[in-house]
Amino acid sequence: MKAVVVEQYAPIDQIGLKEIAMPEVGPGQLRIRVQAASIGFVDGLKVEGRYQTKDALPFTPGAEFAGVIDKVANDVTGFAPGMRVMGAARSGALAEHIVVTAAAVEVMPDGLSMEAGAAFRTNYLTALYALGERGRLRAGEQLLVLGAAGGTGVAAIQIGKLLGARVIAAASTEEKRSFAASFGADAVIDYTRPDWRDALKDATGGHGADVIFDPVGGEVSVQAFRSIAWNGRHLVVGFAAGQIPALPFNLPLLKGGILIGVDAAQIARREPDAQTRVMAQLSAWLNDGKLTPVVGKVFALDDFRAAFKTMQTRAALGKMVVKIGT
Ligand SMILES: NC(=O)c1ccc[n+]([C@@H]2O[C@H](COP(=O)([O-])OP(=O)(O)OC[C@H]3O[C@@H](n4cnc5c(N)ncnc54)[C@H](OP(=O)(O)O)[C@@H]3O)[C@@H](O)[C@H]2O)c1
Repeated sequence: MKAVVVEQYAPIDQIGLKEIAMPEVGPGQLRIRVQAASIGFVDGLKVEGRYQTKDALPFTPGAEFAGVIDKVANDVTGFAPGMRVMGAARSGALAEHIVVTAAAVEVMPDGLSMEAGAAFRTNYLTALYALGERGRLRAGEQLLVLGAAGGTGVAAIQIGKLLGARVIAAASTEEKRSFAASFGADAVIDYTRPDWRDALKDATGGHGADVIFDPVGGEVSVQAFRSIAWNGRHLVVGFAAGQIPALPFNLPLLKGGILIGVDAAQIARREPDAQTRVMAQLSAWLNDGKLTPVVGKVFALDDFRAAFKTMQTRAALGKMVVKIGT
C-alpha cells in the first residue's frame, strides 16, 4: 500500500510517499481503508522531530482519519467490514490503510462526509473539553476566540455558539475573519492591529471576555488577558505563534481572572468521565445535524506536502484534509 513515510526527521519537502507492506490486524484491532486523513499542527512538528515526544523512525504521520473497515480481529465485537468509521491514532493516518484498536474509532453518522469525519476528533474534543469542562462557559457569556479561523479556533466558535455564548472571533486577515464569521461568530476583530483591545472592548460592550480560547500564544495572549472580564477564564490551548508567553502575576490579581491549562491528550487518562461526557455530547450534536466539522482545504495524497505547508505558513483556513481513496 502507499503511505507517507518519515525515515529521518526532516522538513516536509524531504518526506516521500512509499510503497510499504499492508498492515495486519492483531488481537483487539481492526483495519480501515482510509479515505480521508487530516493534518494538525502537531503533525508538522512530529515530522521534523520537534514535538515534545518523538515517534520512533520510520513512521507514517497523520493522527486523524475516516474510512471503511476492511478487516476485523476475531475478538472484536460491534464492528464489521464495510462500516464507515472515523477515529484517531498516535500516527499512521496518511496511508491507504491503518490498523487501530476498536476503541480508537467510532461509527460515522449517516450523511457525514469522509473529509468532515477526518476533521472531527481532535479539534472538537479540544474545543468542548476546553469550553465546557475547563472553562465552564455559560449561555449568555462572551467568548473571545484567538486564531479563530484555524482548526481549533473554528471548532471553538461552533461549540461556543452551541453552548449559547456570544462569540468574538479574532484573526489576522480579512479572509480569515470572513471565514470565522461564516461559522457563527457574532463579531470579528483584527488582532494584528495595535488598538485591537479597544475593538474588543466595544464588541463586548465594555465588559471584556468572560472566556478566552487561546491556541495562539505569544504577546497576543498577554494582551488578551488584560481584557478579561472579572472572574474570566483564559484557556491555554496552544502556541501556534511559536512563543510561550509569560503572564505577569499581578494581572490575575488585578483582573480577577483565572488562567487554565487544556490538554486534550491527557483527558482519557486523567479525566475519563469528562472524556465520556464530551464525546457523548459531540456525538449527539453530530447525529442531530447541529454540528458539522469544518473542512478547510482538501488535497490529493500526492500533494500531501502542500497540506503541511499551507498549515505551516499560516495560510490555512480550518483543518487541512488529505483525500486518500474512494
Ligand atoms: N491543548 C490541546 O489539547 C490542543 C489540541 C489541539 C491543538 N493544540 C495546539 O493548538 C495550536 C493551534 O492548533 P490549530 O490546529 O488550531 O492550528 P492552526 O489551524 O494552524 O491555527 C492556528 C492559528 O494560529 C494563528 N497564528 C498566529 N501566529 C501564527 C504563526 N506564526 N504560525 C501559524 N499560525 C499562527 C493563525 O491565525 P491568524 O493568522 O489569524 O493569527 C492560525 O489560524 C497548536 O499549537 C496545537 O499544537 C492543542
